Amino acid sequence: MRSRCIWTPCKVLTPLSFKPSSFFTFSFSKQLLLPDKSIAAISSTRRGISSYPSLMASSPSLKDSVSTQNESTQKTQQPLQVAKRLEKFKTTIFTQMSSLAIKHGAINLGQGFPNFDGPEFVKEAAIQAIKDGKNQYARGYGVPDFSSAIAERFKKDTGLVVDPEKEITVTSGCTEAIAATMLGLINPGDEVILFAPFYDSYEATLSMAGAKIKCITLRPPDFAVPIDELKSAITQDTRAVLINTPHNPTGKMFSREELSTIASLCIENDVLVFTDEVYDKLAFEMDHISMASLPGMYERTVTLNSLGKTFSLTGWKIGWAIAPPHLTWGVRQAHSFLTFATSTPMQWAAAVALRAPESYYVELKRDYMAKKEILVEGLKAVGFKVFPSSGTYFVVVDHTPFGLENDIAFCEYLIKEVGVVAIPTSVFYLNPEDGKNLVRFTFCKDEGTLRAAVDRMKEKLKRK
Ligand SMILES: Cc1ncc(COP(=O)(O)O)c(C=O)c1O
Repeated sequence: MRSRCIWTPCKVLTPLSFKPSSFFTFSFSKQLLLPDKSIAAISSTRRGISSYPSLMASSPSLKDSVSTQNESTQKTQQPLQVAKRLEKFKTTIFTQMSSLAIKHGAINLGQGFPNFDGPEFVKEAAIQAIKDGKNQYARGYGVPDFSSAIAERFKKDTGLVVDPEKEITVTSGCTEAIAATMLGLINPGDEVILFAPFYDSYEATLSMAGAKIKCITLRPPDFAVPIDELKSAITQDTRAVLINTPHNPTGKMFSREELSTIASLCIENDVLVFTDEVYDKLAFEMDHISMASLPGMYERTVTLNSLGKTFSLTGWKIGWAIAPPHLTWGVRQAHSFLTFATSTPMQWAAAVALRAPESYYVELKRDYMAKKEILVEGLKAVGFKVFPSSGTYFVVVDHTPFGLENDIAFCEYLIKEVGVVAIPTSVFYLNPEDGKNLVRFTFCKDEGTLRAAVDRMKEKLKRK
């Protein structure tokens, strides 16, 4: 089946000249280029599909970006090729926005990577590991010392004792842990429940696994789990529920009550839980609770995490999955054939990182709380309605006081006219309309950058 292109760029780049981060891809976002089947599926909601393509296609600046990119390309035109299971997914919004930030000299409060470096003691450990010759393939499921460090950390955080040899799989970032979990434990046709808004790799990896997605929307102001909806969504056909706490993009943290309700529904219906806890150390307003620590849950839970956010080393891509042996088996089978093993010296350094004294984590939290205060108070002063963020380094706001038609139009205006990058949240929903009033800012930047972004917005953004 051929893709249906709702808005066609003037030229198509050859695979060789195609740059994944180019502006070209902006035009082919999830809302614009959809396989016929996806159109059928999404239009059944009777919302997003009819309005979003026209909104995006009518954005002249996005088309401009495309022509600029294409003019330099004189090679033979070839249709871009991609397997059906991935044809609705395009270059991620984070790459697109970071590229636009560079093009327009905008301050990037979009993609969640710190603009400051990770700790010296961890970088030194990596250098030392390289010098010590720890440079060949690691054991597939993890350098033993790092697996032990993960188990030690997990015990401190949750009280759970796990066997590093049988229950931990080291992966290339949490992104690979997510993919290995889906591909290793989900069969084609299995039903998986997601909470929207959700981190973009969930939908793509579930699609690669052939899963059937059921989506429950968390709504502002508090993004609480709609328990009744969840109760009617979970059935004997459900294979897994995927949660993310603290939650990207909203900063919501799942309460003990919410987690307990999800847990008892999963136990009742024999359902697995995949829990993405990459922001567990950025929990500001309440203590982070790991789903695996709830009674009866460890046996059915895969806990996903990584080093990047906690140690400001997002480029290292060191992650892991913790699960009982019977679930680790599936995760490891997929991991074996995805990457087989993860960077050896970085694992040695990651072991040093995870054994950091508690004071490191206390200071990290203190630093981030100061940054959050600058951004949240600044955004309120600019005139946004700011939704409470209890964890992560993100905050979501309602942009509608500024009169732009949707989140994409607002973010485009913000980049070009104000010089600040935010992320449109519609990309985090199955139905983009659900996110059209919301945009996400990150505060994982130094204080000067945060203040400069707020100043730009105070000066140039006017309420309508
Ligand atoms: C919720 C969530 N999960 C997973 C990831 C990916 O983590 P990693 O960089 O370790 O692959 C991110 C990164 O932004 C994230 O926000």
